[in-house]
Amino acid sequence: MKKQLATIRMAQTSDYSNCLPLFRTLYHGDIGPDFKQTFENFVNSEDGVIMLAERSSKVIGVLVGSYHLDIDWEGRIAKIDALIVEEAYRKEGIGKKLVQRFITMARRKQCKAIKSRINRKNVVAQKFHKSLGFTEADTYEYFLDFE
Ligand SMILES: CC(C)(COP(=O)(O)OP(=O)(O)OC[C@H]1O[C@@H](n2cnc3c(N)ncnc32)[C@H](O)[C@@H]1OP(=O)(O)O)[C@@H](O)C(=O)NCCC(=O)NCCS
Repeated sequence: MKKQLATIRMAQTSDYSNCLPLFRTLYHGDIGPDFKQTFENFVNSEDGVIMLAERSSKVIGVLVGSYHLDIDWEGRIAKIDALIVEEAYRKEGIGKKLVQRFITMARRKQCKAIKSRINRKNVVAQKFHKSLGFTEADTYEYFLDFE
């Protein structure tokens, strides 16, 4: 039987509870007290975006992205902040569809590039990004945690 295509759309604040199971999986259950407010801020911000992949009204994929000024790139760049497709629906092109839609949006917003941070051990995510034309950066990221 041919698989139904997924629909990609922008999230609304009311989508929070339907997206939460995917975020719980992505963050291994580590969802803090400010997560709901942050989700809403992304949905309502000009500089943030949350996109959903849906099949038969079920959320099966989420991409969280943002836009920033970047001195190295001498302009605006976009960033993939989070991306997950529900396990049962992987390898069907849904992640690719979400990222391609974000690429289109980032180009419309005059971004010069898209950054995406993935875990060094996440081989699937590395292959996924390479398949979409992303190249690996030479840089390490450092954090100063205020919390
Ligand atoms: C990474 C992830 C989002 C990919 O989503 P997906 O919908 O399964 O990916 P797609 O079906 O669109 O795959 C696109 C391409 O990526 C590569 N790819 C995807 N999954 C792969 C796998 N398991 N092994 C090898 N290559 C893979 C392939 O080149 C694939 O193209 P192909 O199917 O024509 O070979 C998904 O595996 C996921 O949710 N992983 C857990 C969360 C995560 O790691 N997020 C990434 C952090 S940025």
